[in-house]
Amino acid sequence: MAKVDRFVGRRLLLVGLAVTLVLAGAGFARAQSGVAGASGEADATPTFSRDVAPILQRSCQHCHQPSGIAPMSLLTYRDARPWARSIRDRVERRLMPPWHLDTTVGIQDYKNDISLTEDEIDTVVRWVDAGAPQGDPVHLPAPLEFPRADVWEVEALLGRPPDFIVRSTPYHVVANGQDQWWSPRIEFEGFDVPRYIRAAEFKPSYPLGIKVTHHGHATLRTAAADGEDPPRTHLVGMGIGKRYDLLPEGVGKLLPPGPGTVNFSLHYFPVGEEVTEVADVGVWLYPEGEEPDIVTAGERQFYVDGTHRERLRASDILIPPHGHLVLEDQYVMEQPALIQSFRPHMHMRGTEMSMAVLYPDGRRELLSSVNRYDHNWQIAYVYDDDAQPLLPKGSVLMLRAKWDNTAANRINPDPDQWVVFGARGVDEMSHAWIGITYLEDAEYEELAAERAAEAGDDSQ
Ligand code: HEC
Repeated sequence: MAKVDRFVGRRLLLVGLAVTLVLAGAGFARAQSGVAGASGEADATPTFSRDVAPILQRSCQHCHQPSGIAPMSLLTYRDARPWARSIRDRVERRLMPPWHLDTTVGIQDYKNDISLTEDEIDTVVRWVDAGAPQGDPVHLPAPLEFPRADVWEVEALLGRPPDFIVRSTPYHVVANGQDQWWSPRIEFEGFDVPRYIRAAEFKPSYPLGIKVTHHGHATLRTAAADGEDPPRTHLVGMGIGKRYDLLPEGVGKLLPPGPGTVNFSLHYFPVGEEVTEVADVGVWLYPEGEEPDIVTAGERQFYVDGTHRERLRASDILIPPHGHLVLEDQYVMEQPALIQSFRPHMHMRGTEMSMAVLYPDGRRELLSSVNRYDHNWQIAYVYDDDAQPLLPKGSVLMLRAKWDNTAANRINPDPDQWVVFGARGVDEMSHAWIGITYLEDAEYEELAAERAAEAGDDSQ
Protein backbone atom coordinates (compact mmCIF):
# COMPACT_ATOMS: atom_id res chain seq x y z
CA MET A 1 0.00 0.00 0.00
CA ALA A 2 1.34 3.40 -0.86
CA LYS A 3 2.22 5.37 2.19
CA VAL A 4 1.23 8.97 1.87
CA ASP A 5 3.83 11.41 3.00
CA ARG A 6 2.32 12.61 6.18
CA PHE A 7 4.06 15.92 6.04
CA VAL A 8 2.81 17.22 2.76
CA GLY A 9 -0.70 17.82 4.02
CA ARG A 10 0.52 20.68 6.14
CA ARG A 11 0.56 23.51 3.72
CA LEU A 12 3.92 25.14 3.55
CA LEU A 13 4.49 28.72 2.80
CA LEU A 14 6.33 29.13 -0.41
CA VAL A 15 6.45 32.39 -2.20
CA GLY A 16 9.63 33.10 -4.08
CA LEU A 17 11.29 30.84 -6.53
CA ALA A 18 14.96 30.87 -5.73
CA VAL A 19 14.71 27.37 -4.41
CA THR A 20 18.21 26.43 -3.44
CA LEU A 21 18.79 24.71 -0.18
CA VAL A 22 22.45 24.71 0.61
CA LEU A 23 23.25 21.84 2.85
CA ALA A 24 26.66 23.23 3.21
CA GLY A 25 29.23 22.44 5.82
CA ALA A 26 31.64 20.56 3.77
CA GLY A 27 32.49 23.33 1.39
CA PHE A 28 34.31 20.95 -0.83
CA ALA A 29 35.88 22.64 -3.76
CA ARG A 30 34.69 21.33 -7.09
CA ALA A 31 37.04 19.52 -9.37
CA GLN A 32 40.13 21.46 -10.13
CA SER A 33 41.69 21.39 -13.47
CA GLY A 34 45.22 20.30 -14.04
CA VAL A 35 45.09 17.72 -11.31
CA ALA A 36 46.44 14.68 -12.96
CA GLY A 37 49.27 14.59 -15.41
CA ALA A 38 49.17 18.30 -16.05
CA SER A 39 50.31 19.75 -19.36
CA GLY A 40 50.48 16.61 -21.37
CA GLU A 41 52.91 14.87 -19.06
CA ALA A 42 50.55 12.06 -18.24
CA ASP A 43 53.27 9.49 -18.62
CA ALA A 44 55.86 11.25 -16.52
CA THR A 45 56.29 9.94 -13.01
CA PRO A 46 53.82 11.75 -10.81
CA THR A 47 55.28 13.73 -7.94
CA PHE A 48 53.74 14.76 -4.68
CA SER A 49 54.26 18.47 -5.23
CA ARG A 50 52.84 18.69 -8.71
CA ASP A 51 50.34 15.86 -9.04
CA VAL A 52 49.32 14.39 -5.71
CA ALA A 53 49.02 17.44 -3.45
CA PRO A 54 46.16 18.95 -5.51
CA ILE A 55 44.24 15.67 -5.22
CA LEU A 56 44.78 15.55 -1.49
CA GLN A 57 43.64 19.14 -1.19
CA ARG A 58 40.40 18.58 -2.97
CA SER A 59 39.42 15.16 -1.74
CA CYS A 60 41.26 14.34 1.48
CA GLN A 61 42.54 17.23 3.58
CA HIS A 62 39.16 18.41 4.74
CA CYS A 63 39.23 15.39 7.04
CA HIS A 64 42.94 14.60 7.05
CA GLN A 65 44.26 17.68 8.89
CA PRO A 66 45.13 18.13 12.55
CA SER A 67 41.67 19.14 13.72
CA GLY A 68 39.83 16.97 11.23
CA ILE A 69 38.07 13.70 11.90
CA ALA A 70 40.61 11.41 10.25
CA PRO A 71 43.36 9.67 12.20
CA MET A 72 46.27 11.34 10.42
CA SER A 73 47.11 14.53 8.59
CA LEU A 74 47.81 14.55 4.86
CA LEU A 75 48.68 18.22 4.58
CA THR A 76 52.35 17.98 3.70
CA TYR A 77 54.72 15.59 2.00
CA ARG A 78 56.19 14.77 5.40
CA ASP A 79 52.70 13.93 6.69
CA ALA A 80 51.68 11.87 3.71
CA ARG A 81 54.87 9.98 2.89
CA PRO A 82 54.65 7.35 5.67
CA TRP A 83 51.10 6.54 4.58
CA ALA A 84 51.88 6.08 0.91
CA ARG A 85 51.16 2.35 0.73
CA SER A 86 48.01 2.64 2.75
CA ILE A 87 46.88 5.58 0.59
CA ARG A 88 47.44 3.56 -2.55
CA ASP A 89 45.43 0.69 -1.13
CA ARG A 90 42.48 2.77 0.06
CA VAL A 91 42.35 4.89 -3.04
CA GLU A 92 42.60 2.00 -5.45
CA ARG A 93 39.80 0.13 -3.71
CA ARG A 94 37.73 3.31 -3.68
CA LEU A 95 37.48 3.20 0.10
CA MET A 96 38.98 6.68 0.31
CA PRO A 97 37.69 9.27 -0.09
CA PRO A 98 34.37 7.96 1.22
CA TRP A 99 31.79 8.28 -1.58
CA HIS A 100 29.55 5.29 -1.89
CA LEU A 101 27.36 6.26 -4.74
CA ASP A 102 27.02 4.14 -7.86
CA THR A 103 28.76 6.38 -10.34
CA THR A 104 27.36 4.55 -13.34
CA VAL A 105 23.65 5.21 -12.89
CA GLY A 106 21.38 8.05 -11.86
CA ILE A 107 22.25 11.66 -11.20
CA GLN A 108 25.98 12.36 -11.06
CA ASP A 109 26.03 16.08 -10.28
CA TYR A 110 26.56 16.66 -6.57
CA LYS A 111 27.84 19.75 -4.81
CA ASN A 112 29.95 17.74 -2.41
CA ASP A 113 31.31 15.14 -4.80
CA ILE A 114 34.81 14.35 -3.56
CA SER A 115 35.20 11.10 -5.44
CA LEU A 116 38.32 10.61 -7.51
CA THR A 117 38.29 10.14 -11.25
CA GLU A 118 39.96 7.09 -12.77
CA ASP A 119 42.82 9.39 -13.83
CA GLU A 120 43.30 10.66 -10.33
CA ILE A 121 43.32 7.15 -8.89
CA ASP A 122 45.83 6.18 -11.53
CA THR A 123 48.03 9.16 -10.61
CA VAL A 124 48.05 8.21 -6.93
CA VAL A 125 48.82 4.57 -7.71
CA ARG A 126 51.66 5.45 -10.08
CA TRP A 127 53.06 7.94 -7.57
CA VAL A 128 53.27 5.30 -4.86
CA ASP A 129 54.61 2.66 -7.24
CA ALA A 130 57.38 5.05 -8.25
CA GLY A 131 58.50 5.33 -4.63
CA ALA A 132 56.29 8.29 -3.70
CA PRO A 133 58.71 11.02 -4.88
CA GLN A 134 58.35 14.53 -3.53
CA GLY A 135 59.21 16.42 -6.70
CA ASP A 136 60.00 20.10 -6.70
CA PRO A 137 58.17 21.97 -3.94
CA VAL A 138 57.81 25.00 -6.21
CA HIS A 139 54.98 23.09 -7.86
CA LEU A 140 53.02 22.79 -4.62
CA PRO A 141 49.63 24.48 -4.64
CA ALA A 142 49.10 27.16 -1.99
CA PRO A 143 48.16 25.47 1.27
CA LEU A 144 44.47 25.43 2.22
CA GLU A 145 43.23 26.96 5.43
CA PHE A 146 40.81 25.12 7.63
CA PRO A 147 38.47 26.64 10.17
CA ARG A 148 39.33 25.75 13.75
CA ALA A 149 37.08 22.95 14.92
CA ASP A 150 36.18 24.65 18.20
CA VAL A 151 34.50 27.71 16.67
CA TRP A 152 31.04 27.95 15.14
CA GLU A 153 31.62 27.78 11.41
CA VAL A 154 28.29 29.51 10.73
CA GLU A 155 29.24 32.41 12.98
CA ALA A 156 31.99 33.32 10.57
CA LEU A 157 29.55 33.13 7.67
CA LEU A 158 26.64 35.05 9.21
CA GLY A 159 28.72 37.36 11.38
CA ARG A 160 26.82 36.65 14.59
CA PRO A 161 26.72 33.99 17.27
CA PRO A 162 23.83 31.51 17.41
CA ASP A 163 20.49 32.76 18.79
CA PHE A 164 20.36 29.80 21.07
CA ILE A 165 22.49 26.81 21.93
CA VAL A 166 21.25 23.46 23.18
CA ARG A 167 23.83 21.35 24.98
CA SER A 168 23.63 17.60 25.44
CA THR A 169 24.41 16.03 28.79
CA PRO A 170 27.93 14.55 28.92
CA TYR A 171 28.70 11.07 27.75
CA HIS A 172 31.76 9.09 28.63
CA VAL A 173 33.18 7.36 25.57
CA VAL A 174 35.44 4.49 26.60
CA ALA A 175 38.92 4.19 25.15
CA ASN A 176 38.39 0.88 23.40
CA GLY A 177 35.20 -0.86 22.51
CA GLN A 178 32.34 -0.93 20.10
CA ASP A 179 30.14 1.82 18.79
CA GLN A 180 28.21 3.69 21.42
CA TRP A 181 24.99 5.65 21.38
CA TRP A 182 23.67 8.40 23.54
CA SER A 183 20.20 9.89 23.27
CA PRO A 184 19.74 12.57 25.90
CA ARG A 185 16.55 14.63 25.95
CA ILE A 186 17.03 18.23 26.88
CA GLU A 187 14.17 20.46 28.04
CA PHE A 188 13.60 23.34 25.66
CA GLU A 189 11.80 26.45 26.82
CA GLY A 190 10.66 27.41 23.38
CA PHE A 191 9.32 30.60 21.86
CA ASP A 192 5.84 32.10 22.14
CA VAL A 193 5.49 32.61 18.42
CA PRO A 194 6.56 30.66 15.35
CA ARG A 195 10.16 31.39 14.41
CA TYR A 196 12.17 30.48 11.34
CA ILE A 197 15.56 28.83 11.28
CA ARG A 198 18.22 30.22 8.98
CA ALA A 199 21.02 27.88 10.03
CA ALA A 200 21.93 25.25 12.57
CA GLU A 201 25.27 23.74 13.44
CA PHE A 202 26.33 20.70 15.36
CA LYS A 203 29.53 21.16 17.34
CA PRO A 204 31.08 18.27 19.23
CA SER A 205 33.55 19.17 21.96
CA TYR A 206 37.12 19.99 20.99
CA PRO A 207 39.65 18.52 20.49
CA LEU A 208 38.59 14.95 21.24
CA GLY A 209 34.81 15.03 20.87
CA ILE A 210 35.22 15.76 17.20
CA LYS A 211 37.19 12.54 16.80
CA VAL A 212 34.74 10.24 18.58
CA THR A 213 31.54 11.65 17.13
CA HIS A 214 30.49 9.60 14.20
CA HIS A 215 27.16 11.25 13.65
CA GLY A 216 24.52 13.13 15.52
CA HIS A 217 21.03 14.49 15.12
CA ALA A 218 19.09 16.99 17.14
CA THR A 219 15.32 17.05 16.78
CA LEU A 220 12.91 19.34 18.55
CA ARG A 221 9.61 17.88 19.68
CA THR A 222 7.00 20.36 20.73
CA ALA A 223 3.56 19.65 22.14
CA ALA A 224 0.89 18.39 19.76
CA ALA A 225 -2.20 20.29 18.80
CA ASP A 226 -5.26 18.19 19.66
CA GLY A 227 -5.36 14.91 17.85
CA GLU A 228 -2.22 15.55 15.82
CA ASP A 229 1.19 13.98 15.89
CA PRO A 230 3.61 16.07 17.92
CA PRO A 231 5.58 18.26 15.51
CA ARG A 232 9.15 17.11 15.01
CA THR A 233 11.57 19.69 13.78
CA HIS A 234 14.87 18.29 12.69
CA LEU A 235 17.27 21.01 13.79
CA VAL A 236 20.46 19.64 12.30
CA GLY A 237 22.18 16.42 11.43
CA MET A 238 25.91 16.08 11.61
CA GLY A 239 27.64 13.37 9.66
CA ILE A 240 31.26 12.91 8.91
CA GLY A 241 32.17 15.81 6.65
CA LYS A 242 29.00 17.78 7.35
CA ARG A 243 28.44 19.95 10.38
CA TYR A 244 25.86 22.59 9.54
CA ASP A 245 22.88 23.49 7.39
CA LEU A 246 22.86 27.08 6.19
CA LEU A 247 19.85 28.16 4.17
CA PRO A 248 20.09 30.94 1.60
CA GLU A 249 18.76 34.36 2.61
CA GLY A 250 14.97 34.29 2.31
CA VAL A 251 14.68 30.56 2.93
CA GLY A 252 13.82 29.24 6.38
CA LYS A 253 12.61 26.24 8.31
CA LEU A 254 9.73 26.56 10.74
CA LEU A 255 10.46 26.33 14.46
CA PRO A 256 7.04 25.75 16.00
CA PRO A 257 6.18 27.74 19.14
CA GLY A 258 5.87 26.34 22.61
CA PRO A 259 8.09 24.35 24.93
CA GLY A 260 9.36 20.90 24.11
CA THR A 261 12.40 18.70 24.26
CA VAL A 262 15.44 18.56 22.05
CA ASN A 263 16.21 14.93 21.44
CA PHE A 264 19.81 14.19 20.63
CA SER A 265 20.77 11.05 18.85
CA LEU A 266 24.51 10.63 19.08
CA HIS A 267 26.67 7.88 17.74
CA TYR A 268 30.25 7.52 18.93
CA PHE A 269 33.19 5.33 18.17
CA PRO A 270 36.08 4.89 20.58
CA VAL A 271 39.46 6.22 19.49
CA GLY A 272 41.89 4.62 21.93
CA GLU A 273 41.59 7.19 24.70
CA GLU A 274 38.79 8.04 27.09
CA VAL A 275 36.73 11.02 26.03
CA THR A 276 34.00 12.87 27.89
CA GLU A 277 31.89 14.35 25.17
CA VAL A 278 29.22 17.05 25.16
CA ALA A 279 27.63 18.17 21.92
CA ASP A 280 26.34 21.68 21.30
CA VAL A 281 23.74 22.57 18.73
CA GLY A 282 23.64 26.24 17.74
CA VAL A 283 20.65 27.70 15.94
CA TRP A 284 20.46 30.96 13.98
CA LEU A 285 16.95 32.40 13.53
CA TYR A 286 15.33 35.00 11.35
CA PRO A 287 14.36 38.05 13.43
CA GLU A 288 11.10 37.74 15.32
CA GLY A 289 8.13 38.59 13.11
CA GLU A 290 10.11 38.00 9.91
CA GLU A 291 8.77 35.24 7.75
CA PRO A 292 11.14 34.05 5.02
CA ASP A 293 9.81 33.92 1.45
CA ILE A 294 10.32 30.19 1.22
CA VAL A 295 9.77 27.69 3.97
CA THR A 296 11.63 24.48 3.33
CA ALA A 297 11.12 21.20 5.08
CA GLY A 298 14.90 20.77 5.32
CA GLU A 299 16.09 17.22 5.78
CA ARG A 300 13.12 14.95 6.38
CA GLN A 301 13.20 11.35 7.43
CA PHE A 302 11.57 8.90 5.01
CA TYR A 303 11.34 5.36 6.27
CA VAL A 304 11.97 2.36 4.11
CA ASP A 305 11.22 -0.10 6.85
CA GLY A 306 7.47 -0.15 7.34
CA THR A 307 6.93 2.35 10.01
CA HIS A 308 3.34 2.60 10.99
CA ARG A 309 2.63 4.70 14.02
CA GLU A 310 0.10 2.14 15.22
CA ARG A 311 2.56 -0.76 15.01
CA LEU A 312 5.95 -1.51 16.43
CA ARG A 313 8.50 0.20 14.25
CA ALA A 314 9.97 -1.82 11.46
CA SER A 315 8.64 -5.24 12.36
CA ASP A 316 9.30 -6.03 8.71
CA ILE A 317 13.06 -6.09 9.21
CA LEU A 318 13.78 -9.75 9.75
CA ILE A 319 16.95 -10.97 8.07
CA PRO A 320 17.74 -14.67 8.28
CA PRO A 321 21.23 -15.96 9.08
CA HIS A 322 23.34 -16.07 5.90
CA GLY A 323 20.49 -14.41 4.05
CA HIS A 324 19.50 -11.19 2.34
CA LEU A 325 16.56 -8.86 2.56
CA VAL A 326 15.17 -6.18 0.26
CA LEU A 327 12.56 -3.70 1.43
CA GLU A 328 10.83 -1.00 -0.52
CA ASP A 329 8.53 1.79 0.39
CA GLN A 330 7.00 4.65 -1.47
CA TYR A 331 5.66 8.09 -0.83
CA VAL A 332 3.05 9.78 -2.96
CA MET A 333 3.74 13.48 -3.36
CA GLU A 334 0.54 15.32 -2.59
CA GLN A 335 2.31 18.52 -3.47
CA PRO A 336 5.06 19.16 -6.03
CA ALA A 337 8.51 18.95 -4.52
CA LEU A 338 12.14 19.72 -5.21
CA ILE A 339 14.74 17.42 -3.71
CA GLN A 340 18.04 18.82 -2.48
CA SER A 341 19.82 15.87 -0.96
CA PHE A 342 19.76 12.15 -0.21
CA ARG A 343 21.32 10.58 2.87
CA PRO A 344 20.67 6.86 3.40
CA HIS A 345 20.86 5.36 6.85
CA MET A 346 21.22 1.66 7.62
CA HIS A 347 23.55 -0.35 9.84
CA MET A 348 26.19 -3.05 9.40
CA ARG A 349 24.18 -5.40 7.18
CA GLY A 350 22.96 -2.56 4.98
CA THR A 351 24.66 -2.61 1.61
CA GLU A 352 22.51 -0.57 -0.73
CA MET A 353 19.84 2.11 -0.79
CA SER A 354 18.39 3.73 -3.83
CA MET A 355 15.86 6.45 -4.53
CA ALA A 356 13.75 6.44 -7.66
CA VAL A 357 10.72 8.32 -8.85
CA LEU A 358 7.66 7.19 -10.74
CA TYR A 359 6.26 10.25 -12.51
CA PRO A 360 2.52 10.66 -13.02
CA ASP A 361 3.02 10.05 -16.75
CA GLY A 362 4.42 6.61 -16.02
CA ARG A 363 8.09 7.36 -16.55
CA ARG A 364 10.37 5.88 -13.97
CA GLU A 365 13.77 7.36 -13.13
CA LEU A 366 16.49 6.14 -10.82
CA LEU A 367 17.73 9.25 -9.04
CA SER A 368 20.57 8.00 -6.85
CA SER A 369 21.84 4.62 -5.87
CA VAL A 370 24.23 4.24 -2.97
CA ASN A 371 25.35 0.75 -3.88
CA ARG A 372 28.42 0.55 -1.65
CA TYR A 373 26.72 1.66 1.50
CA ASP A 374 29.05 1.64 4.49
CA HIS A 375 27.61 1.91 7.95
CA ASN A 376 30.67 3.78 9.17
CA TRP A 377 29.79 6.79 7.08
CA GLN A 378 26.78 9.06 6.90
CA ILE A 379 27.09 10.91 3.67
CA ALA A 380 24.54 13.37 2.37
CA TYR A 381 24.62 13.38 -1.42
CA VAL A 382 23.78 17.02 -2.17
CA TYR A 383 22.51 17.63 -5.69
CA ASP A 384 23.81 20.48 -7.82
CA ASP A 385 21.12 23.13 -8.18
CA ASP A 386 20.34 22.20 -11.77
CA ALA A 387 20.26 18.51 -10.93
CA GLN A 388 17.78 18.67 -8.05
CA PRO A 389 14.97 16.25 -8.83
CA LEU A 390 11.74 18.14 -9.52
CA LEU A 391 8.69 16.05 -8.76
CA PRO A 392 5.23 16.98 -9.97
CA LYS A 393 2.30 16.40 -7.68
CA GLY A 394 1.26 12.78 -7.78
CA SER A 395 4.79 11.48 -8.29
CA VAL A 396 5.73 8.46 -6.27
CA LEU A 397 9.07 8.58 -4.50
CA MET A 398 10.38 5.03 -4.19
CA LEU A 399 13.04 3.95 -1.75
CA ARG A 400 14.66 0.57 -1.71
CA ALA A 401 17.04 -0.88 0.86
CA LYS A 402 19.12 -4.05 0.67
CA TRP A 403 20.84 -6.01 3.38
CA ASP A 404 23.47 -8.70 3.23
CA ASN A 405 23.73 -10.91 6.31
CA THR A 406 26.18 -13.35 4.74
CA ALA A 407 29.88 -13.72 5.44
CA ALA A 408 30.53 -11.91 2.16
CA ASN A 409 29.62 -8.67 3.88
CA ARG A 410 33.03 -7.69 5.21
CA ILE A 411 31.69 -5.79 8.23
CA ASN A 412 29.12 -8.40 9.20
CA PRO A 413 29.83 -9.09 12.89
CA ASP A 414 28.01 -12.46 12.92
CA PRO A 415 26.24 -14.05 9.93
CA ASP A 416 24.72 -16.73 12.20
CA GLN A 417 22.36 -14.23 13.80
CA TRP A 418 18.81 -13.31 12.90
CA VAL A 419 18.76 -9.55 12.55
CA VAL A 420 15.86 -7.29 13.51
CA PHE A 421 15.23 -3.60 13.94
CA GLY A 422 17.18 -1.76 16.62
CA ALA A 423 19.51 1.11 17.41
CA ARG A 424 22.71 -0.86 17.77
CA GLY A 425 24.96 -1.28 14.74
CA VAL A 426 24.35 -5.01 14.98
CA ASP A 427 20.59 -4.41 14.63
CA GLU A 428 19.11 -2.84 11.55
CA MET A 429 17.26 0.21 10.33
CA SER A 430 16.48 1.77 7.02
CA HIS A 431 15.51 5.29 6.35
CA ALA A 432 16.74 8.15 4.27
CA TRP A 433 17.17 11.76 5.25
CA ILE A 434 15.95 13.66 2.25
CA GLY A 435 16.38 17.41 1.86
CA ILE A 436 13.07 18.47 0.37
CA THR A 437 11.20 21.67 -0.42
CA TYR A 438 7.50 21.42 -1.17
CA LEU A 439 6.23 23.74 -3.88
CA GLU A 440 2.97 25.44 -4.75
CA ASP A 441 1.56 24.37 -8.11
CA ALA A 442 2.43 27.70 -9.74
CA GLU A 443 6.00 27.49 -8.51
CA TYR A 444 6.30 24.01 -9.83
CA GLU A 445 4.99 25.09 -13.24
CA GLU A 446 7.46 27.93 -13.39
CA LEU A 447 10.42 25.78 -12.43
CA ALA A 448 9.39 23.03 -14.81
CA ALA A 449 9.12 25.58 -17.62
CA GLU A 450 12.54 27.00 -16.78
CA ARG A 451 14.07 23.57 -16.86
CA ALA A 452 12.37 22.67 -20.11
CA ALA A 453 13.63 25.91 -21.65
CA GLU A 454 17.15 25.19 -20.45
CA ALA A 455 16.98 21.74 -21.93
CA GLY A 456 15.89 23.36 -25.19
CA ASP A 457 12.73 21.35 -25.07
CA ASP A 458 9.41 23.14 -24.99
CA SER A 459 7.34 20.07 -25.54
CA GLN A 460 6.71 19.69 -21.81
C1 HEC B 1 35.14 12.68 4.92
C2 HEC B 1 36.38 12.52 5.62
C3 HEC B 1 37.54 11.86 4.90
C4 HEC B 1 37.97 12.11 3.63
C5 HEC B 1 37.44 13.12 2.64
C6 HEC B 1 39.08 11.24 3.42
N1 HEC B 1 39.32 10.48 4.53
FE1 HEC B 1 40.73 9.05 4.75
N2 HEC B 1 39.97 8.56 6.55
C7 HEC B 1 38.97 9.23 7.20
C8 HEC B 1 38.70 8.57 8.47
C9 HEC B 1 37.66 8.99 9.49
C10 HEC B 1 39.56 7.47 8.54
C11 HEC B 1 39.65 6.44 9.68
C12 HEC B 1 38.53 5.45 9.55
C13 HEC B 1 38.75 4.52 8.43
O1 HEC B 1 39.84 3.92 8.37
O2 HEC B 1 37.87 4.39 7.57
C14 HEC B 1 40.34 7.49 7.31
C15 HEC B 1 41.32 6.57 7.01
C16 HEC B 1 42.19 6.68 5.95
C17 HEC B 1 43.31 5.80 5.71
C18 HEC B 1 43.71 4.62 6.55
C19 HEC B 1 44.58 5.03 7.67
C20 HEC B 1 45.05 3.83 8.43
O3 HEC B 1 44.90 3.83 9.65
O4 HEC B 1 45.57 2.91 7.79
C21 HEC B 1 43.93 6.27 4.58
C22 HEC B 1 45.18 5.72 3.94
C23 HEC B 1 43.20 7.40 4.12
N3 HEC B 1 42.15 7.63 4.96
C24 HEC B 1 43.51 8.13 3.00
C25 HEC B 1 42.68 9.09 2.45
C26 HEC B 1 42.92 9.72 1.18
C27 HEC B 1 44.11 9.47 0.30
C28 HEC B 1 41.86 10.54 0.95
C29 HEC B 1 41.59 11.37 -0.27
C30 HEC B 1 41.81 10.77 -1.56
C31 HEC B 1 40.99 10.46 2.09
N4 HEC B 1 41.52 9.56 2.97
C32 HEC B 1 39.82 11.19 2.25
C33 HEC B 1 38.30 10.33 6.75
C34 HEC B 1 38.40 10.83 5.46
